[in-house]
Amino acid sequence: KRVVLAFSGGLDTSVILKWLQQTYNCEVVTFTADLGQGEELEPARAKAQMMGVKPEHIFIDDLKEEFVRDYIFPMMRANALYEGLYLLGTSIARPLIAKRQIEIARLVGADAVSHGATGKGNDQVRFELGYYALSPDIKVIAPWREWDLTSRSALIAFAEQHQIPVAKDKRGESPFSTDANILHTSSEGKVLEDPWEEVPDYVYSRTVNPEDAPNTPQSITVDFERGDAVAIDGVGMSPATLLAKLNDLGRAHGIGRLDLVENRFVGMKSRGMYETPGGTILHLAHRGIEQLTLDRGAAHLKDELAPRYAELLYNGMWFSPEREMLQAAIDHSQAKVSGTVRLKLYKGSVNVTGRKSPNSLYSEKVVTFEDDAGAYDQRDAEGFIKLNALRLRLLGRRDQP
Ligand code: ARG
Ligand code: SIN
Repeated sequence: KRVVLAFSGGLDTSVILKWLQQTYNCEVVTFTADLGQGEELEPARAKAQMMGVKPEHIFIDDLKEEFVRDYIFPMMRANALYEGLYLLGTSIARPLIAKRQIEIARLVGADAVSHGATGKGNDQVRFELGYYALSPDIKVIAPWREWDLTSRSALIAFAEQHQIPVAKDKRGESPFSTDANILHTSSEGKVLEDPWEEVPDYVYSRTVNPEDAPNTPQSITVDFERGDAVAIDGVGMSPATLLAKLNDLGRAHGIGRLDLVENRFVGMKSRGMYETPGGTILHLAHRGIEQLTLDRGAAHLKDELAPRYAELLYNGMWFSPEREMLQAAIDHSQAKVSGTVRLKLYKGSVNVTGRKSPNSLYSEKVVTFEDDAGAYDQRDAEGFIKLNALRLRLLGRRDQP
């Protein structure tokens, strides 16, 4: 019996590795994805090896480009925000991890997969919906729902008992729950569990405090082609390189911090802190280029679809026909979304300060407050308003005293 474990090399999944070997008496295959979390991944290899995983059963894959190109960028085309604010940095990573895990299960002939998400959260749902969509009969082992390590202290005790190293955070306590990739870092639990308590400074890891950011603003340009960012300041870059560059810029200017209470799919509210430096810039830049290039009808329909799309992603439905339907419509809308956006980064804020496009629908000739030389006949507006007013006038005649 073989099981493929999504293995970060952190405390939880190390305990799970040991627990799977003990409880199921099975051969564990580890899969560690480089999604740009900015951590050394070789320690994960060493840890797996130390716990008896065969070298050929340790998979460490660099998925950064695929992640940004095939997951983050399609999501950015949709302008997806969950509950109006959350850029879905964790939600978007889970389907890709699930997909690769299933591929590895096929490669090594495993009949089960396992993950380190708890029974209380969204991530279990996202992983497992991905597994089942791609491998309908796969066996799923979710240790957090099975074992009797019911608290973090029990987990740490188990780790110490089995010589699994326990990382401590800067305060010497056991760490709060974090998830990081090239798009964001999220933190939940511990000090954050009281939604009235302000997030302490030490929880932030990839943005400077906006109050300490440079006193001079920085202007950048982002070029788009068909809805995807392709260059910064005129320099073309691959998707992951570009997002990493935006992350550096966002970090320096303290952009993309979010303190949020959100509704988890399982029904409870949770409080989290997110840092999405590059993603926050990209999201606004994309809206900036759409302002010029999308027709109102398409743009407003997109804005109606975006919350639906975001909720699908949040709830783990990436591999669903309804997500694919929405994606097809959204991608279709991006055919002319090309051009350049200029943005100003300053002390935690990012603002669009200019946009231009060969496909612009903006007509200065039509909109100008100056003489438009017959581009627009103001007399047309009278009939436009009169017909739109017709219903209101009929209602008014009936209902006003
Ligand atoms: N609440 C966020 C979400 O559901 C982040 C979850 C982060 N996961 C974690 N292990 N801390 O997308
Ligand atoms: C977890 O429960 O494992 C993390 C939080 C979440 O999935 O929502």
